Amino acid sequence: MLTVAMPKGRIFEEAVELLRKAGYNLPPEFEDNRRLIIDVEEAGMRFILAKPMDVPTYVEHGVADIGVAGKDTMIEEERDVYEVLDLKISECYMAVAALPTYEKNRDIAPKVASKYPNLAASYFREQGEQVEIIKLNGSIELAPLIGLADRIVDIVSTGQTLRANGLVELETIVPITSRLIVNPVSYRMKDTVIDEVVERLAAVVEGEEQ
Ligand code: PRP
Repeated sequence: MLTVAMPKGRIFEEAVELLRKAGYNLPPEFEDNRRLIIDVEEAGMRFILAKPMDVPTYVEHGVADIGVAGKDTMIEEERDVYEVLDLKISECYMAVAALPTYEKNRDIAPKVASKYPNLAASYFREQGEQVEIIKLNGSIELAPLIGLADRIVDIVSTGQTLRANGLVELETIVPITSRLIVNPVSYRMKDTVIDEVVERLAAVVEGEEQ
């Protein structure tokens, strides 16, 4: 059996659709379910449904052989896993945003709120700017509105959340898509099975592009 770590939440539906297109016959209970482990015997796969940010952790520790993880998570977590395929789903990007009244040069004790403290810290380090990073777990857009931080580093997809909260984008940091990741030991032990998954998914990704 191949154990596959899947991210619950936004990426989930697109990842499931991709797997189905690749010929894996995932049962309907996949979508409407609170179960965290789902075996699909005919595919020879066991799926574990994890928080997106935890997928690389499961794969690094080898309790999952492969997984689907956002590039955002990969950058933030820096786990020891192979990134074998860009699945080109859940496209978005990481950006710095603030209220339109924000003025960088007036910012004497800059605070930046983010769910991605490592990514944000390394971005500002590269920019040569000293900032204090405040880690939040969600609803990051709140931070500038209530004066917790002047800027945020967060995912932008449609831009609706920024607009709805009167925030503007200042800088784009990095484009994000989901990746197929593999545990290095699993790749040695189960190379044939994993290669087949990679090939099947790669064919779907290529097909979608045309
Ligand atoms: C993400 C992200 C933004 C929003 C961006 O949050 O943190 O808030 O989506 O999407 P948009 O550009 O299409 O509006 P998510 O909904 O995943 O929840 P969170 O606030 O709990 O992180």
